[in-house]
Amino acid sequence: MEITNVSEYEKLAKETLPKMIYDYYASGAEDQWTLKENRNAFSRILFRPRVLIDVSDIDISTTVLGFKISMPIMIAPSAMQKMAHPEGECATARAASAAGTIMTLSTLATSSVEEVASTGHGIRFFQLYVFKDRNLVSQLVKRAERAGFKAIVLTVDTPRLGRREADIKNRFVLPPHLTLKNFEGLDLGKMVQTEDSGLASYASSQLDQSLNWKDLQWLKTITKLPILLKGVVTAEDAQLAVQAGVAGIIVSNHGARQLDYVPATIMALEEVVESVEGRIPVFLDGGVRRGTDIFKALALGASAVFIGRPVLFALAVDGENGVRKMLQMLRDEFELAMTLSGCQSVGMITRSHVMTASDPPRVVSKL
Ligand code: GLV
Repeated sequence: MEITNVSEYEKLAKETLPKMIYDYYASGAEDQWTLKENRNAFSRILFRPRVLIDVSDIDISTTVLGFKISMPIMIAPSAMQKMAHPEGECATARAASAAGTIMTLSTLATSSVEEVASTGHGIRFFQLYVFKDRNLVSQLVKRAERAGFKAIVLTVDTPRLGRREADIKNRFVLPPHLTLKNFEGLDLGKMVQTEDSGLASYASSQLDQSLNWKDLQWLKTITKLPILLKGVVTAEDAQLAVQAGVAGIIVSNHGARQLDYVPATIMALEEVVESVEGRIPVFLDGGVRRGTDIFKALALGASAVFIGRPVLFALAVDGENGVRKMLQMLRDEFELAMTLSGCQSVGMITRSHVMTASDPPRVVSKL
């Protein structure tokens, strides 16, 4: 089958991957309302394209935390990528570098920070889960720093894992030939099969449920790297994040895998953007499958987006090549959306290029 859009990778991956692994990547929490809503909400946002603008030369590049990237599309952290393909996170890192963009490596990766760094040049962020063992966390952050990672992406929506029923039914566990490579040689590097989801049990026993705003100050004492908070979806928390001195916010609901019935990220985005008042950049992940989705996120105030599941599905279907192609498709679609909306550069995308049902009636002042 010729693949003509990003979602088609998911269909093929479903045929390729063992059920336990496909289900782990694909599923959301409980009723999976938020999982569907992350996609559906994009379809309720419509365009207000402008015409007769010279679009013969489109520049889709942008800057994130001072790093120039080729497009406002980055790779979100997703755990255990060697379940999708033997080259796992290293293949993803190479594809991201080839595309001129940033990859975020998960704490729960099946390749270590050092292995990913050794794939060659590239701008990379490190996603951090804070474990109960703070010594371990501090060593891990230092390793990421030494390996040249440029930012810490602190996940803040996961004191415990959300209830993913497919994983419970499948008794999900990391296949025994794989290791959580950042913890190689430690008990933490392996996952034990339980009567539940093996990952849920792992998270409950290892993640620090006491993590709170004060711990951000501790994190700042152990690293000089900028910190992005991933998992903020309210104005209240966005303000606390600014006060805490973080470098940016990722509006994320963890791919709808944590608390079900939180709004789609594209619905929560504007509230966060308005409350930070431009003091720090705001990013978004969740449900992005089309170039038009990326345009909509930027129009509602995101500086760039992160892509999660499509990376895993493209990796499962065609390794590094699959991830390259998937990123190229999003890039082409995004450039087309800019062209057809009359935007020559990312900075020209504004709120008035889209409309939502809750927008007040538009009064256009006389030109
Ligand atoms: C891990 O972070 C997961 O959401 O499964």
